[in-house]
Amino acid sequence: GKSGYDHYMLKEIHEQPTALRQCLRGRVDELEGDISLESLADLEQSGPVQFVACGTSYHAALYGAALCREHGVRATASIASEYTTDRVPVDEDTLVVGVTQSGETADTLRALREASRAGGRTLAVTNTVGSSITRVCDHALYIRAGPEIGVAATKTFASQQLALTLLAASLSNTSSHREIESLRAVPDQVQTVLDTSQAKAIAEEFVNADAFFFIGRGLAYPVALEGALKFKEITYEHAEGFAAGELKHGPLALVTKDTPVFAIVTGDGKRARKTISNIKEVEARDAPVIVVTDGESEAERYADHVLEIPATDERGATVLANVQLQLVSYWVANLLGRSIDKPRNLAKSVTVE
Ligand code: M6R
Repeated sequence: GKSGYDHYMLKEIHEQPTALRQCLRGRVDELEGDISLESLADLEQSGPVQFVACGTSYHAALYGAALCREHGVRATASIASEYTTDRVPVDEDTLVVGVTQSGETADTLRALREASRAGGRTLAVTNTVGSSITRVCDHALYIRAGPEIGVAATKTFASQQLALTLLAASLSNTSSHREIESLRAVPDQVQTVLDTSQAKAIAEEFVNADAFFFIGRGLAYPVALEGALKFKEITYEHAEGFAAGELKHGPLALVTKDTPVFAIVTGDGKRARKTISNIKEVEARDAPVIVVTDGESEAERYADHVLEIPATDERGATVLANVQLQLVSYWVANLLGRSIDKPRNLAKSVTVE
């Protein structure tokens, strides 16, 4: 059942600390500074890595590919239904990673089957033991999020983020004590976000807006895309996610005083400073700005509202920022009386191409 929550989605959002602890259990060793992924012990990867997925899992794939590149591993992410429209772009050095919560998504299964047939090595990153994808792929990495009933993917996305963080570190053989320490802190920090979030008040303030925009750069870019997907899926309102730097190349024309912009700003580095410049661009068009931030940069100075997250590194921060955006979507959908657990026209598992 829903354990007292009005919707499975809200229950599953609140299950994230537990889901994330399960994902990490036995896989990180703080003392040794090691990450070990049981199922990948015999996977030596030196060639390129291609992530393939759909929907929310595609956003996780973008996130995983960006993380790999930060670790010095060549990596790309593709939408599964676009992956094999031309020739299958693999050779025997390529590792193709299918990211799929259900393990049953037709487009993803097809892409992995074709990659395998073309001689690529294959890995499934999935929540579902014994799912079709695990039979198609050479290896499997389980995200261990537990069952997800709501059509909107919530805890499975967070668990994909963490599992892909482990994968990137493991493929590159690089993990530091600091990195592991901050990884292990994420579940408690998610709990802090759940306990303190002002997302409901933000939802009340902006429920009648014309459209909702989400921006981020670096690891926050796929989270901006995910924030917008979740939003349109359960509120039925117009929402778009953009790389923060892309606004001025077109989308800025849509920005008005009736289009709140959610900006994810983490840390105080170059990325944060650039995103703050992008925030100034939308402020100049009178758009309300809600920053999701750890308070490390000056972002709050340019914001009308703040959704705060605990300070941590960029990886952890983008998990936490996503939780804030999940809650905003949930509360807007709730205020609008939408069918949150079963949005119109959508299915939990998409088994047709
Ligand atoms: O089971 P999968 O992760 O392969 O599903 C892929 C998408 O259909 C899925 O992520 C979908 O976008 C979400 N349920 C949206 O919340």
